[in-house]
Amino acid sequence: MNYQNLLARRTQRMHVNAIREILKVASQPGMISLAGGIPAPESFPLELITELNGRVMAAYAEEALQYGPTEGFAPLREALAMRLSEKGLACIPEDLLVTSGSQGALDAIGKILLSRGDRIVVESPTYLGALQAFTPYEPEYLALPCDDDGLLPDALEDQLRRQPVKFVYLVPNFQNPTGRTLTMPRRRAVAEIIRKYGTLLVEDDPYGDLRYSGPVLPALKTLAPENVIYIGTLSKVFAPGLRLGYCAAPRPIRRWLVRAKQGVDLHTGTYGQALAAEYIAGGYLERHLPRIVDLYKPRQEAIIDALEKNFPDGFRWSRPEGGMFVWVEGPEGMDMHALYAKAVQQGVAYVPGQFFFVDQDMGRHTLRLNFTMADGPALERAIEILADVMRCHG
Ligand SMILES: Cc1ncc(COP(=O)(O)O)c(C=O)c1O
Repeated sequence: MNYQNLLARRTQRMHVNAIREILKVASQPGMISLAGGIPAPESFPLELITELNGRVMAAYAEEALQYGPTEGFAPLREALAMRLSEKGLACIPEDLLVTSGSQGALDAIGKILLSRGDRIVVESPTYLGALQAFTPYEPEYLALPCDDDGLLPDALEDQLRRQPVKFVYLVPNFQNPTGRTLTMPRRRAVAEIIRKYGTLLVEDDPYGDLRYSGPVLPALKTLAPENVIYIGTLSKVFAPGLRLGYCAAPRPIRRWLVRAKQGVDLHTGTYGQALAAEYIAGGYLERHLPRIVDLYKPRQEAIIDALEKNFPDGFRWSRPEGGMFVWVEGPEGMDMHALYAKAVQQGVAYVPGQFFFVDQDMGRHTLRLNFTMADGPALERAIEILADVMRCHG
């Protein structure tokens, strides 16, 4: 049998996720890993989950174990709609679709919107998982430049003036991989531009709740409601293993997303949705969130302090006000992929930044550091080691 010949065109474009390969090395014993993008296990509300299990069985029992509607478990959609509305993103339960992680929403969006050659605007660099979801449909990526304040609105307008695009994909809060946040003036500018050109924008917001300093900024969805699909997740504020995400999309798009999801998994697991409904509606999420922030904020401060203290001249890094990542740029000409092996030999793992670029020849001198998995002293040690690696081999 020639199995390769059996594959569909789109399957040939499903590449191995390079970061997952790197994470295998990063999880070796003794390694300080700044490579992952996952929540610290200490952030999970473990005892509470035992209690919530009891509540789910008492309140929903069979319903929680039964097939459910594709749109999502009604009490969860209600709880999410109320929470989003309280945060300024006005919506009703019917506006929401529960997905299997925010990745499930990205996958469904690619499936219903993209045909071969369709243009998508992305930030440069951008979230690799979004590229993985969209690439099988053979879009053309237009990777636009960003600075410390996020996407450059002028670059977006230039692009849209020249040719229409299927959609713009943005991570406006504490972006993965850079940790950068789109500033308020830029949010207004981006919202105005997409309204002016009648462009759809996918706003992926897994990190917005993880803010350690600075004022909360409104979602783009609130500034251009008809133009934006907003995607959220409970992965960073509850437990990623439950695979619970959601999206608020303009109604005609939501109807197609529902059909796409029906063909994939019928619906996201009801039991987990019931747990999340209790978690949010019972006020536990709002009470637990400050504990997650208290856990991560000192880690974010520790990594920035350590970079300032140890990293050689010629390097610069983002100063995120939240999220999970710091983005480091070394001098042009450095190859962080080549240095990765040296860093791992010294017991520290990171993700070379080039993997987050559509054109992987860009960003060879960059790297992404995660600061949620290691505690302050481990982060300091890791940055000292990395600084030595950069100095010796740079
Ligand atoms: C920007 C971004 N979008 C989406 C996801 C997927 O998250 P999940 O599917 O767990 O909600 C991640 C995960 O790290 C992410 O960083």
